[in-house]
Amino acid sequence: MKKILLVLGSLAFFIAEAQMPDIIPKPNSCIIGKGYFSINEQTKIVLWGTGLEKPALFLQDYLSKMYYIQLPIVKHNSGKGNIVLNYHKIEATIPGAHEIEITGSSVTISGDNAAGVFYGIQSLLQLLPHSKNQALDIPQLSLSDQPRFAYRGMHLDVGRHFFSVDFIKKYIDFIALHKLNIFHWHLTEDQGWRIEIKKYPNLTAIGAFRNGTITGKYPGESNTNTRYGGFYTQNQIKEIVQYASDRFVEIIPEIELPGHASAAIAAYPELSCFPKESTQYPDKTPWNGSKEGKQVQQTWGIFEDVLVPSEYTFNFLENVFNEVIQLFPSKYIHIGGDECPKASWKRSDFCQQLIKEKGLKDEHGLQSYFIQRIEKYLNSKGKQIIGWDEILEGGLAPNATVMSWRGEKGGIEAAKQNHAVIMTPGEWMYFDHKQTKNEDSITIGGFTPIQKVYSYEPIPNGLSAEEEKKILGAQANMWTEYMTNTAKVEYMLFPRISALSEVLWSKKENKNWGDFEKRLQNQFKRYNWLGIHFSKAYFDPINQITLSK
Ligand code: ACM
Repeated sequence: MKKILLVLGSLAFFIAEAQMPDIIPKPNSCIIGKGYFSINEQTKIVLWGTGLEKPALFLQDYLSKMYYIQLPIVKHNSGKGNIVLNYHKIEATIPGAHEIEITGSSVTISGDNAAGVFYGIQSLLQLLPHSKNQALDIPQLSLSDQPRFAYRGMHLDVGRHFFSVDFIKKYIDFIALHKLNIFHWHLTEDQGWRIEIKKYPNLTAIGAFRNGTITGKYPGESNTNTRYGGFYTQNQIKEIVQYASDRFVEIIPEIELPGHASAAIAAYPELSCFPKESTQYPDKTPWNGSKEGKQVQQTWGIFEDVLVPSEYTFNFLENVFNEVIQLFPSKYIHIGGDECPKASWKRSDFCQQLIKEKGLKDEHGLQSYFIQRIEKYLNSKGKQIIGWDEILEGGLAPNATVMSWRGEKGGIEAAKQNHAVIMTPGEWMYFDHKQTKNEDSITIGGFTPIQKVYSYEPIPNGLSAEEEKKILGAQANMWTEYMTNTAKVEYMLFPRISALSEVLWSKKENKNWGDFEKRLQNQFKRYNWLGIHFSKAYFDPINQITLSK
Protein backbone atom coordinates (compact mmCIF):
# COMPACT_ATOMS: atom_id res chain seq x y z
CA MET A 1 0.00 0.00 0.00
CA LYS A 2 2.79 2.31 1.03
CA LYS A 3 4.50 1.60 -2.27
CA ILE A 4 1.34 2.38 -4.27
CA LEU A 5 0.89 5.64 -2.39
CA LEU A 6 4.49 6.50 -3.07
CA VAL A 7 4.06 5.80 -6.76
CA LEU A 8 0.82 7.79 -6.87
CA GLY A 9 2.49 10.61 -4.95
CA SER A 10 5.41 10.69 -7.37
CA LEU A 11 2.99 10.60 -10.29
CA ALA A 12 1.02 13.55 -8.88
CA PHE A 13 4.29 15.38 -8.34
CA PHE A 14 5.40 14.52 -11.86
CA ILE A 15 2.14 15.84 -13.33
CA ALA A 16 2.40 19.02 -11.21
CA GLU A 17 6.02 19.38 -12.27
CA ALA A 18 5.23 18.69 -15.89
CA GLN A 19 2.62 21.43 -15.87
CA MET A 20 4.66 23.84 -13.82
CA PRO A 21 4.11 27.25 -15.39
CA ASP A 22 7.04 28.89 -17.14
CA ILE A 23 7.93 31.25 -14.34
CA ILE A 24 11.46 32.68 -14.10
CA PRO A 25 12.96 32.68 -11.52
CA LYS A 26 11.69 29.23 -10.55
CA PRO A 27 9.32 29.41 -7.57
CA ASN A 28 9.90 27.26 -4.49
CA SER A 29 6.72 25.31 -5.08
CA CYS A 30 3.74 25.45 -7.38
CA ILE A 31 0.83 23.04 -7.71
CA ILE A 32 -1.31 23.46 -10.80
CA GLY A 33 -5.08 22.96 -10.65
CA LYS A 34 -7.47 22.13 -13.49
CA GLY A 35 -9.34 25.22 -14.61
CA TYR A 36 -8.69 28.88 -15.25
CA PHE A 37 -9.43 32.30 -13.83
CA SER A 38 -10.29 34.94 -16.40
CA ILE A 39 -9.24 38.53 -15.99
CA ASN A 40 -11.81 40.70 -17.76
CA GLU A 41 -13.45 44.15 -17.67
CA GLN A 42 -15.36 43.19 -14.50
CA THR A 43 -12.25 42.20 -12.53
CA LYS A 44 -11.16 44.54 -9.75
CA ILE A 45 -7.87 44.82 -7.87
CA VAL A 46 -8.97 44.59 -4.24
CA LEU A 47 -6.78 45.82 -1.39
CA TRP A 48 -7.35 43.87 1.80
CA GLY A 49 -4.00 44.82 3.26
CA THR A 50 -3.14 48.49 3.89
CA GLY A 51 -0.08 50.02 2.22
CA LEU A 52 -0.34 47.86 -0.91
CA GLU A 53 -1.07 50.73 -3.30
CA LYS A 54 2.33 50.52 -5.02
CA PRO A 55 2.01 46.88 -6.14
CA ALA A 56 -1.64 47.52 -7.06
CA LEU A 57 -0.74 50.52 -9.21
CA PHE A 58 2.03 48.56 -10.90
CA LEU A 59 -0.38 45.74 -11.79
CA GLN A 60 -3.01 48.19 -13.01
CA ASP A 61 -0.49 50.06 -15.14
CA TYR A 62 1.02 46.90 -16.67
CA LEU A 63 -2.39 45.47 -17.64
CA SER A 64 -3.44 48.80 -19.07
CA LYS A 65 -0.24 49.28 -21.11
CA MET A 66 0.13 45.72 -22.32
CA TYR A 67 -3.50 44.57 -22.67
CA TYR A 68 -5.51 47.82 -22.85
CA ILE A 69 -7.63 46.68 -19.92
CA GLN A 70 -8.24 49.13 -17.07
CA LEU A 71 -8.94 47.42 -13.73
CA PRO A 72 -10.16 49.62 -10.88
CA ILE A 73 -8.36 49.50 -7.53
CA VAL A 74 -10.83 49.23 -4.65
CA LYS A 75 -10.70 48.59 -0.92
CA HIS A 76 -12.78 46.25 1.26
CA ASN A 77 -14.50 44.57 -1.67
CA SER A 78 -15.40 40.91 -2.00
CA GLY A 79 -12.68 38.68 -3.43
CA LYS A 80 -15.17 36.96 -5.75
CA GLY A 81 -14.23 37.52 -9.37
CA ASN A 82 -11.36 39.75 -8.30
CA ILE A 83 -7.60 39.92 -7.70
CA VAL A 84 -7.02 40.36 -3.98
CA LEU A 85 -3.78 41.76 -2.55
CA ASN A 86 -3.19 40.98 1.08
CA TYR A 87 -0.63 40.15 3.77
CA HIS A 88 0.08 36.73 5.20
CA LYS A 89 2.74 36.01 7.80
CA ILE A 90 5.30 33.67 6.27
CA GLU A 91 8.36 32.33 8.12
CA ALA A 92 11.20 33.81 6.07
CA THR A 93 14.45 35.53 6.99
CA ILE A 94 14.64 37.48 3.74
CA PRO A 95 11.86 39.93 2.80
CA GLY A 96 9.80 39.13 -0.27
CA ALA A 97 8.06 35.84 0.59
CA HIS A 98 4.59 35.42 -0.86
CA GLU A 99 1.83 33.00 -1.80
CA ILE A 100 -0.53 32.98 -4.77
CA GLU A 101 -3.87 31.16 -4.86
CA ILE A 102 -5.69 31.15 -8.15
CA THR A 103 -9.08 29.45 -8.13
CA GLY A 104 -11.90 29.57 -10.66
CA SER A 105 -13.42 32.53 -8.80
CA SER A 106 -10.53 34.62 -7.47
CA VAL A 107 -6.83 35.39 -7.37
CA THR A 108 -5.22 36.07 -4.00
CA ILE A 109 -1.66 37.30 -3.70
CA SER A 110 -0.48 37.38 -0.09
CA GLY A 111 2.92 38.76 0.78
CA ASP A 112 4.90 38.67 3.96
CA ASN A 113 5.39 42.37 3.15
CA ALA A 114 4.50 44.74 0.28
CA ALA A 115 7.56 43.64 -1.70
CA GLY A 116 6.31 40.05 -1.46
CA VAL A 117 2.99 41.08 -3.01
CA PHE A 118 4.91 42.89 -5.77
CA TYR A 119 6.93 39.74 -6.52
CA GLY A 120 3.74 37.69 -6.53
CA ILE A 121 2.40 40.07 -9.17
CA GLN A 122 5.57 39.52 -11.22
CA SER A 123 4.83 35.79 -11.25
CA LEU A 124 1.17 36.41 -12.10
CA LEU A 125 2.16 38.51 -15.12
CA GLN A 126 4.20 35.63 -16.48
CA LEU A 127 1.05 33.49 -16.58
CA LEU A 128 -0.66 35.86 -19.00
CA PRO A 129 -0.61 35.31 -22.77
CA HIS A 130 2.02 37.18 -24.77
CA SER A 131 -0.52 38.59 -27.16
CA LYS A 132 -3.21 41.25 -27.09
CA ASN A 133 -5.76 39.09 -28.91
CA GLN A 134 -6.12 36.24 -26.44
CA ALA A 135 -8.38 36.00 -23.40
CA LEU A 136 -6.56 36.78 -20.16
CA ASP A 137 -6.99 33.27 -18.73
CA ILE A 138 -4.57 32.21 -16.04
CA PRO A 139 -4.26 28.67 -14.71
CA GLN A 140 -5.58 27.74 -11.28
CA LEU A 141 -2.65 27.15 -9.01
CA SER A 142 -1.24 27.33 -5.55
CA LEU A 143 2.23 28.87 -5.39
CA SER A 144 4.59 29.56 -2.53
CA ASP A 145 7.84 31.44 -3.00
CA GLN A 146 10.60 33.39 -1.31
CA PRO A 147 14.00 34.76 -2.32
CA ARG A 148 17.26 33.00 -1.52
CA PHE A 149 19.42 36.13 -1.22
CA ALA A 150 18.68 39.58 0.23
CA TYR A 151 20.99 41.36 -2.23
CA ARG A 152 19.96 40.74 -5.85
CA GLY A 153 21.79 43.36 -7.86
CA MET A 154 22.21 44.71 -11.36
CA HIS A 155 24.71 47.46 -12.17
CA LEU A 156 24.93 50.04 -14.93
CA ASP A 157 27.85 52.28 -15.87
CA VAL A 158 26.58 55.62 -17.16
CA GLY A 159 30.05 57.20 -17.15
CA ARG A 160 31.43 55.63 -20.32
CA HIS A 161 28.11 56.10 -22.09
CA PHE A 162 25.24 58.21 -20.87
CA PHE A 163 21.63 56.99 -20.95
CA SER A 164 18.44 59.04 -20.71
CA VAL A 165 16.15 59.23 -17.69
CA ASP A 166 13.58 57.23 -19.67
CA PHE A 167 16.04 54.44 -20.31
CA ILE A 168 17.15 54.37 -16.66
CA LYS A 169 13.49 53.88 -15.72
CA LYS A 170 13.19 51.11 -18.29
CA TYR A 171 16.31 49.48 -16.85
CA ILE A 172 14.73 49.62 -13.39
CA ASP A 173 11.64 47.95 -14.86
CA PHE A 174 13.85 45.19 -16.25
CA ILE A 175 15.36 44.72 -12.79
CA ALA A 176 11.95 44.59 -11.13
CA LEU A 177 10.46 42.18 -13.71
CA HIS A 178 13.16 39.68 -12.70
CA LYS A 179 12.59 40.05 -8.92
CA LEU A 180 15.96 41.73 -8.47
CA ASN A 181 16.00 44.47 -5.86
CA ILE A 182 19.20 46.53 -6.21
CA PHE A 183 20.25 48.94 -8.94
CA HIS A 184 23.94 49.81 -8.55
CA TRP A 185 24.24 53.10 -10.44
CA HIS A 186 27.85 53.84 -11.42
CA LEU A 187 27.65 57.62 -11.73
CA THR A 188 31.20 58.92 -12.04
CA GLU A 189 34.07 57.88 -14.28
CA ASP A 190 37.17 59.10 -16.13
CA GLN A 191 34.98 59.71 -19.18
CA GLY A 192 32.15 61.60 -17.47
CA TRP A 193 30.70 62.84 -14.19
CA ARG A 194 26.93 62.28 -14.34
CA ILE A 195 25.36 63.65 -11.16
CA GLU A 196 24.58 67.30 -10.50
CA ILE A 197 26.36 68.59 -7.38
CA LYS A 198 25.17 72.09 -6.64
CA LYS A 199 28.24 73.14 -4.64
CA TYR A 200 30.57 72.17 -7.51
CA PRO A 201 28.91 73.21 -10.79
CA ASN A 202 32.04 72.47 -12.84
CA LEU A 203 31.60 68.77 -12.14
CA THR A 204 28.80 68.78 -14.68
CA ALA A 205 29.58 71.95 -16.69
CA ILE A 206 33.06 70.54 -17.47
CA GLY A 207 33.19 66.99 -16.12
CA ALA A 208 30.02 65.71 -17.80
CA PHE A 209 31.31 66.29 -21.33
CA ARG A 210 34.24 65.01 -23.38
CA ASN A 211 35.45 66.41 -26.67
CA GLY A 212 35.37 63.09 -28.44
CA THR A 213 35.22 59.32 -27.97
CA ILE A 214 37.43 56.64 -29.46
CA THR A 215 35.89 54.31 -31.99
CA GLY A 216 37.01 50.70 -32.30
CA LYS A 217 38.78 48.87 -29.55
CA TYR A 218 41.02 50.45 -26.89
CA PRO A 219 43.24 52.46 -27.28
CA GLY A 220 41.12 53.49 -30.27
CA GLU A 221 41.18 53.29 -34.06
CA SER A 222 39.65 56.66 -34.68
CA ASN A 223 37.69 59.33 -32.80
CA THR A 224 34.07 60.46 -33.17
CA ASN A 225 35.39 64.05 -33.02
CA THR A 226 32.09 64.97 -31.42
CA ARG A 227 31.46 66.48 -28.01
CA TYR A 228 29.62 63.87 -25.94
CA GLY A 229 28.01 63.86 -22.53
CA GLY A 230 25.13 64.51 -20.21
CA PHE A 231 24.20 64.31 -16.56
CA TYR A 232 21.23 63.80 -14.27
CA THR A 233 19.90 66.81 -12.40
CA GLN A 234 19.07 66.36 -8.74
CA ASN A 235 15.38 66.60 -9.59
CA GLN A 236 15.73 63.85 -12.17
CA ILE A 237 17.56 61.70 -9.64
CA LYS A 238 14.79 62.18 -7.08
CA GLU A 239 12.25 61.16 -9.72
CA ILE A 240 14.26 58.03 -10.58
CA VAL A 241 14.74 57.08 -6.92
CA GLN A 242 10.96 57.34 -6.42
CA TYR A 243 10.32 55.33 -9.59
CA ALA A 244 12.65 52.60 -8.31
CA SER A 245 11.13 52.63 -4.85
CA ASP A 246 7.66 52.16 -6.38
CA ARG A 247 9.07 48.95 -7.88
CA PHE A 248 10.81 47.81 -4.69
CA VAL A 249 14.23 48.54 -6.16
CA GLU A 250 16.87 50.24 -4.03
CA ILE A 251 19.41 52.42 -5.82
CA ILE A 252 22.99 52.33 -4.58
CA PRO A 253 24.93 55.23 -6.09
CA GLU A 254 28.63 54.89 -6.82
CA ILE A 255 30.96 57.86 -6.56
CA GLU A 256 34.38 56.55 -7.64
CA LEU A 257 37.48 57.34 -5.61
CA PRO A 258 40.47 57.67 -5.51
CA GLY A 259 40.92 56.34 -9.09
CA HIS A 260 38.73 56.62 -12.19
CA ALA A 261 38.34 60.31 -11.35
CA SER A 262 39.68 62.09 -14.46
CA ALA A 263 36.37 63.89 -15.09
CA ALA A 264 36.32 65.32 -11.55
CA ILE A 265 39.97 66.33 -11.94
CA ALA A 266 39.23 68.04 -15.27
CA ALA A 267 36.57 70.08 -13.44
CA TYR A 268 38.69 70.78 -10.33
CA PRO A 269 42.42 70.23 -11.11
CA GLU A 270 43.41 70.77 -7.44
CA LEU A 271 42.05 67.25 -6.86
CA SER A 272 45.15 65.92 -8.67
CA CYS A 273 48.63 65.40 -7.19
CA PHE A 274 49.89 67.47 -10.12
CA PRO A 275 47.25 70.09 -11.00
CA LYS A 276 49.43 71.71 -13.67
CA GLU A 277 50.26 68.57 -15.61
CA SER A 278 48.19 67.89 -18.71
CA THR A 279 46.03 64.77 -18.93
CA GLN A 280 47.90 61.71 -20.20
CA TYR A 281 46.48 59.10 -22.57
CA PRO A 282 47.99 56.28 -24.66
CA ASP A 283 50.20 57.40 -27.58
CA LYS A 284 48.01 55.47 -30.00
CA THR A 285 44.74 57.09 -28.90
CA PRO A 286 43.28 59.42 -31.54
CA TRP A 287 42.35 62.55 -29.57
CA ASN A 288 39.95 65.38 -30.41
CA GLY A 289 40.34 68.97 -29.24
CA SER A 290 42.72 70.49 -26.75
CA LYS A 291 45.50 68.39 -25.28
CA GLU A 292 46.43 71.10 -22.78
CA GLY A 293 45.54 71.00 -19.11
CA LYS A 294 43.15 68.57 -17.50
CA GLN A 295 40.73 66.86 -19.89
CA VAL A 296 37.85 64.44 -19.58
CA GLN A 297 39.11 61.14 -20.98
CA GLN A 298 38.22 60.06 -24.52
CA THR A 299 39.53 56.50 -24.31
CA TRP A 300 38.97 53.63 -21.86
CA GLY A 301 41.30 51.99 -19.37
CA ILE A 302 43.10 52.97 -16.19
CA PHE A 303 44.77 56.35 -15.69
CA GLU A 304 47.54 57.42 -13.34
CA ASP A 305 46.08 60.84 -12.53
CA VAL A 306 44.10 59.99 -9.39
CA LEU A 307 42.76 61.97 -6.42
CA VAL A 308 45.38 63.42 -4.09
CA PRO A 309 44.63 62.57 -0.44
CA SER A 310 44.79 66.24 0.62
CA GLU A 311 42.46 68.18 2.94
CA TYR A 312 41.19 69.98 -0.17
CA THR A 313 40.12 66.63 -1.63
CA PHE A 314 38.55 65.32 1.58
CA ASN A 315 36.62 68.55 2.03
CA PHE A 316 35.48 68.32 -1.60
CA LEU A 317 34.38 64.69 -1.23
CA GLU A 318 32.54 65.37 2.02
CA ASN A 319 30.62 68.16 0.35
CA VAL A 320 29.82 65.92 -2.63
CA PHE A 321 28.62 63.15 -0.31
CA ASN A 322 26.50 65.63 1.67
CA GLU A 323 24.44 66.15 -1.47
CA VAL A 324 24.51 62.48 -2.57
CA ILE A 325 23.21 61.39 0.85
CA GLN A 326 20.24 63.72 0.51
CA LEU A 327 19.27 62.14 -2.80
CA PHE A 328 19.61 58.42 -2.08
CA PRO A 329 17.81 56.84 0.89
CA SER A 330 19.83 53.58 0.62
CA LYS A 331 21.95 52.81 3.67
CA TYR A 332 24.81 52.07 1.25
CA ILE A 333 27.06 54.37 -0.74
CA HIS A 334 29.49 52.67 -3.14
CA ILE A 335 32.82 54.48 -3.08
CA GLY A 336 34.62 52.53 -5.84
CA GLY A 337 38.19 51.93 -4.72
CA ASP A 338 39.19 49.78 -7.72
CA GLU A 339 42.04 50.20 -10.18
CA CYS A 340 43.82 53.09 -8.50
CA PRO A 341 47.41 53.16 -9.81
CA LYS A 342 49.95 54.28 -7.24
CA ALA A 343 52.42 56.00 -9.63
CA SER A 344 51.28 59.57 -8.91
CA TRP A 345 51.31 59.02 -5.15
CA LYS A 346 54.83 57.55 -5.49
CA ARG A 347 56.26 60.63 -7.17
CA SER A 348 54.29 63.17 -5.11
CA ASP A 349 56.30 64.78 -2.26
CA PHE A 350 53.01 65.56 -0.54
CA CYS A 351 51.89 61.91 -0.59
CA GLN A 352 55.27 60.60 0.52
CA GLN A 353 55.27 63.06 3.43
CA LEU A 354 51.72 62.00 4.36
CA ILE A 355 52.74 58.32 4.35
CA LYS A 356 55.53 59.19 6.84
CA GLU A 357 53.38 61.44 8.99
CA LYS A 358 50.59 58.90 9.33
CA GLY A 359 53.04 56.01 9.85
CA LEU A 360 51.66 54.17 6.80
CA LYS A 361 53.55 51.29 5.21
CA ASP A 362 53.36 52.37 1.60
CA GLU A 363 50.95 53.64 -1.09
CA HIS A 364 48.57 50.72 -0.40
CA GLY A 365 48.48 51.96 3.17
CA LEU A 366 47.64 55.39 1.76
CA GLN A 367 44.75 53.94 -0.23
CA SER A 368 43.49 52.27 2.94
CA TYR A 369 43.86 55.59 4.84
CA PHE A 370 41.88 57.31 2.07
CA ILE A 371 39.02 54.79 2.16
CA GLN A 372 38.93 54.69 5.97
CA ARG A 373 38.59 58.47 6.17
CA ILE A 374 35.70 58.41 3.74
CA GLU A 375 34.12 55.51 5.58
CA LYS A 376 34.37 57.38 8.89
CA TYR A 377 32.67 60.39 7.38
CA LEU A 378 29.88 58.38 5.77
CA ASN A 379 29.37 56.26 8.90
CA SER A 380 28.98 59.52 10.86
CA LYS A 381 26.12 60.35 8.47
CA GLY A 382 24.47 56.96 9.04
CA LYS A 383 25.69 55.38 5.78
CA GLN A 384 27.68 52.21 5.13
CA ILE A 385 30.29 51.95 2.38
CA ILE A 386 30.64 49.32 -0.32
CA GLY A 387 33.93 49.10 -2.22
CA TRP A 388 35.44 46.93 -4.96
CA ASP A 389 37.76 44.24 -3.60
CA GLU A 390 40.91 46.41 -3.92
CA ILE A 391 39.79 48.02 -0.65
CA LEU A 392 41.18 44.90 1.03
CA GLU A 393 44.70 46.02 0.08
CA GLY A 394 46.48 47.85 2.87
CA GLY A 395 43.75 46.94 5.38
CA LEU A 396 39.98 46.94 5.18
CA ALA A 397 37.95 49.85 6.55
CA PRO A 398 36.22 48.56 9.73
CA ASN A 399 32.59 48.48 8.51
CA ALA A 400 33.03 48.15 4.76
CA THR A 401 31.11 45.72 2.54
CA VAL A 402 33.32 44.20 -0.15
CA MET A 403 32.23 43.70 -3.74
CA SER A 404 34.29 40.79 -5.07
CA TRP A 405 34.93 41.29 -8.78
CA ARG A 406 38.45 39.94 -9.45
CA GLY A 407 37.24 36.39 -8.94
CA GLU A 408 35.93 35.01 -5.67
CA LYS A 409 39.13 35.45 -3.66
CA GLY A 410 38.38 38.94 -2.34
CA GLY A 411 34.93 37.88 -1.23
CA ILE A 412 36.27 34.82 0.57
CA GLU A 413 38.95 36.86 2.32
CA ALA A 414 36.49 39.58 3.35
CA ALA A 415 33.97 37.03 4.70
CA LYS A 416 36.78 35.43 6.72
CA GLN A 417 37.51 38.88 8.13
CA ASN A 418 33.83 39.02 9.16
CA HIS A 419 32.86 41.64 6.56
CA ALA A 420 29.70 41.60 4.50
CA VAL A 421 30.27 40.58 0.87
CA ILE A 422 28.56 40.95 -2.49
CA MET A 423 29.81 38.52 -5.12
CA THR A 424 30.28 39.81 -8.64
CA PRO A 425 33.17 37.77 -10.08
CA GLY A 426 33.97 38.64 -13.69
CA GLU A 427 33.95 35.11 -15.04
CA TRP A 428 30.21 34.70 -14.36
CA MET A 429 28.84 38.13 -13.57
CA TYR A 430 30.29 40.53 -16.17
CA PHE A 431 27.63 41.22 -18.76
CA ASP A 432 30.05 43.29 -20.85
CA HIS A 433 31.60 39.96 -21.92
CA LYS A 434 30.42 38.52 -25.20
CA GLN A 435 27.72 35.84 -25.01
CA THR A 436 28.50 34.09 -28.29
CA LYS A 437 31.78 33.10 -29.88
CA ASN A 438 30.31 34.53 -33.09
CA GLU A 439 29.79 37.99 -31.58
CA ASP A 440 29.86 40.51 -34.41
CA SER A 441 29.88 43.71 -32.34
CA ILE A 442 32.75 44.97 -30.25
CA THR A 443 32.85 43.86 -26.64
CA ILE A 444 35.48 44.24 -23.97
CA GLY A 445 36.43 40.54 -24.19
CA GLY A 446 35.65 37.49 -22.09
CA PHE A 447 33.01 34.88 -22.92
CA THR A 448 30.04 34.59 -20.58
CA PRO A 449 27.12 32.84 -22.27
CA ILE A 450 23.84 32.42 -20.43
CA GLN A 451 24.78 28.86 -19.44
CA LYS A 452 27.81 30.23 -17.63
CA VAL A 453 25.75 32.84 -15.78
CA TYR A 454 23.25 30.15 -14.81
CA SER A 455 26.01 27.94 -13.44
CA TYR A 456 27.10 30.54 -10.91
CA GLU A 457 26.83 29.68 -7.21
CA PRO A 458 27.18 32.83 -5.07
CA ILE A 459 28.35 31.01 -1.94
CA PRO A 460 31.99 30.19 -2.64
CA ASN A 461 33.70 27.05 -1.38
CA GLY A 462 35.93 27.24 1.64
CA LEU A 463 33.74 29.21 4.06
CA SER A 464 32.39 28.10 7.42
CA ALA A 465 28.61 28.21 8.00
CA GLU A 466 29.06 31.51 9.90
CA GLU A 467 31.22 32.99 7.15
CA GLU A 468 28.70 31.96 4.49
CA LYS A 469 26.17 34.23 6.20
CA LYS A 470 28.38 37.20 5.28
CA ILE A 471 27.55 36.67 1.58
CA LEU A 472 24.59 39.00 1.09
CA GLY A 473 24.08 37.97 -2.51
CA ALA A 474 25.48 38.76 -5.92
CA GLN A 475 25.27 41.22 -8.77
CA ALA A 476 25.94 41.36 -12.50
CA ASN A 477 27.85 44.34 -13.87
CA MET A 478 27.21 46.27 -17.06
CA TRP A 479 30.26 48.33 -18.03
CA THR A 480 29.44 50.37 -21.10
CA GLU A 481 32.71 51.18 -22.90
CA TYR A 482 31.39 49.33 -25.95
CA MET A 483 27.68 50.05 -25.51
CA THR A 484 26.98 53.30 -27.31
CA ASN A 485 23.20 52.87 -27.42
CA THR A 486 20.34 51.36 -25.44
CA ALA A 487 19.67 48.54 -27.92
CA LYS A 488 23.19 47.27 -27.23
CA VAL A 489 22.66 47.48 -23.47
CA GLU A 490 19.46 45.43 -23.81
CA TYR A 491 21.24 42.95 -26.05
CA MET A 492 23.95 42.45 -23.43
CA LEU A 493 21.44 42.27 -20.58
CA PHE A 494 18.96 39.84 -22.14
CA PRO A 495 18.50 36.97 -21.71
CA ARG A 496 21.34 36.73 -19.19
CA ILE A 497 19.30 38.63 -16.59
CA SER A 498 16.88 35.68 -16.57
CA ALA A 499 19.70 33.37 -15.50
CA LEU A 500 20.87 35.92 -12.93
CA SER A 501 17.41 36.13 -11.41
CA GLU A 502 17.27 32.37 -10.89
CA VAL A 503 20.80 32.31 -9.42
CA LEU A 504 19.77 34.91 -6.85
CA TRP A 505 16.16 34.07 -6.16
CA SER A 506 15.59 30.33 -6.49
CA LYS A 507 16.59 27.61 -4.05
CA LYS A 508 19.91 26.02 -4.93
CA GLU A 509 18.30 22.57 -5.09
CA ASN A 510 15.63 23.87 -7.52
CA LYS A 511 18.19 25.03 -10.04
CA ASN A 512 18.34 22.87 -13.14
CA TRP A 513 19.66 24.04 -16.50
CA GLY A 514 17.45 21.72 -18.58
CA ASP A 515 14.33 22.84 -16.77
CA PHE A 516 15.37 26.52 -17.01
CA GLU A 517 15.96 26.13 -20.73
CA LYS A 518 12.37 24.94 -21.20
CA ARG A 519 10.98 27.93 -19.32
CA LEU A 520 13.35 30.24 -21.21
CA GLN A 521 11.52 29.54 -24.48
CA ASN A 522 8.42 31.23 -23.11
CA GLN A 523 10.56 34.02 -21.68
CA PHE A 524 11.89 34.70 -25.21
CA LYS A 525 8.28 35.06 -26.36
CA ARG A 526 7.66 37.47 -23.50
CA TYR A 527 10.78 39.49 -24.35
CA ASN A 528 9.51 39.78 -27.93
CA TRP A 529 6.12 40.81 -26.64
CA LEU A 530 7.67 43.47 -24.41
CA GLY A 531 9.71 44.78 -27.36
CA ILE A 532 13.06 43.95 -25.78
CA HIS A 533 16.20 43.73 -27.95
CA PHE A 534 17.55 40.45 -26.62
CA SER A 535 20.51 38.44 -27.81
CA LYS A 536 19.79 35.31 -29.89
CA ALA A 537 23.18 33.85 -28.95
CA TYR A 538 21.39 31.05 -27.10
CA PHE A 539 20.30 29.64 -30.47
CA ASP A 540 23.85 29.64 -31.77
CA PRO A 541 24.90 25.95 -31.99
CA ILE A 542 28.35 26.85 -30.72
CA ASN A 543 26.75 27.81 -27.39
CA GLN A 544 24.79 24.59 -26.97
CA ILE A 545 27.25 23.25 -24.47
CA THR A 546 26.92 22.69 -20.77
CA LEU A 547 29.24 24.80 -18.73
CA SER A 548 29.70 23.97 -15.10
CA LYS A 549 31.42 26.00 -12.46
C1 ACM B 1 35.83 46.84 -12.12
O1 ACM B 1 35.36 46.08 -12.98
N1 ACM B 1 36.86 47.63 -12.40
C2 ACM B 1 35.27 46.89 -10.79
